[in-house]
Amino acid sequence: MTARHVISLSDLSDEDLHSVMVRGARFAGRSGADGAPLAGTVTGILFRRTSTRTRTAFSAGAQRLGGGIVTFRPEELQLATGETAEDTGAVFARMLDIMVARTADDQAEMRAWAALGGMSVVNAMSAQEHPTQGLTDLTTLHRRFGRIEGLRVLYVGEGNNTAAALALGLTRFRDVHLHLATPPGYGLSAEIGTRAAKQAAANGSTLTESQSLEDVPERMDVVYTTRWQTTGTSKADPDWRRLFEPFQVTGDLWRASPDALFMHDLPAHRGDEVTAEVLDGPRSIAFEQAENKMWSAMAVLEWCANGVVERRGA
Ligand code: CP
Repeated sequence: MTARHVISLSDLSDEDLHSVMVRGARFAGRSGADGAPLAGTVTGILFRRTSTRTRTAFSAGAQRLGGGIVTFRPEELQLATGETAEDTGAVFARMLDIMVARTADDQAEMRAWAALGGMSVVNAMSAQEHPTQGLTDLTTLHRRFGRIEGLRVLYVGEGNNTAAALALGLTRFRDVHLHLATPPGYGLSAEIGTRAAKQAAANGSTLTESQSLEDVPERMDVVYTTRWQTTGTSKADPDWRRLFEPFQVTGDLWRASPDALFMHDLPAHRGDEVTAEVLDGPRSIAFEQAENKMWSAMAVLEWCANGVVERRGA
């Protein structure tokens, strides 16, 4: 019996993806859990990059489910004095049940820790993908629309790890239309784009991308954006703002999609990627989406903990 991991949304079967999404919505609807499915488990929380929502969501979520947590600041670990990531992981895997980690770099370290076999590894954001944001977004859409099938989503901004998870998540459902309007040179990576397009084709969904906000599809259900400076990254081009400025989400976008809800993974910079009028306006569900990070984190932790119970019983 192997440990359950959420390093990419591709680690979850269609059935597991659906059940984690719905479970997050159930936790939200009940404002918590009935029992303590994490009782007897310990979750490690290691963030090598800044975080407000994801770290709080998993820390509070584990405790609300009756589990223990150990929080690590990277500079306090022997990693800071030269111990290797491999040796660090080998120790964690002998003491922890679940490790929630943010690297903002490559996912290879998480895969290496997962391969040790002793603990579940949850990707709380890497350079390639932000899968727990993707699960939160699915739960948020499911709560608001009661379905994912048939939704029309316009994503505006860099094709970053949030966009990758959104694309990999939405295209697992039928009849979805996801359009990404991304600044030239800052689109979805070819690898993610190919994987998501393949999933979309298998599910009768469409994934399209343009490098302009002109002629984006109309009658969208959701307009989604993200901060111009993705956490833990910097842009080599000193002139990058000139490319991003035409992609600010303003009230004008609602002329073609008057019923669209507005989503944002946060943190936000009002006046950059979105106007205050939109972020703080009546169509915005950005802070409801932020709260859903905790309910979704609880669903992820419970799913991992169920794997721990299976392994202990095996
Ligand atoms: N959206 C998101 O991941 O927020 P944090 O960086 O605050 O965790």
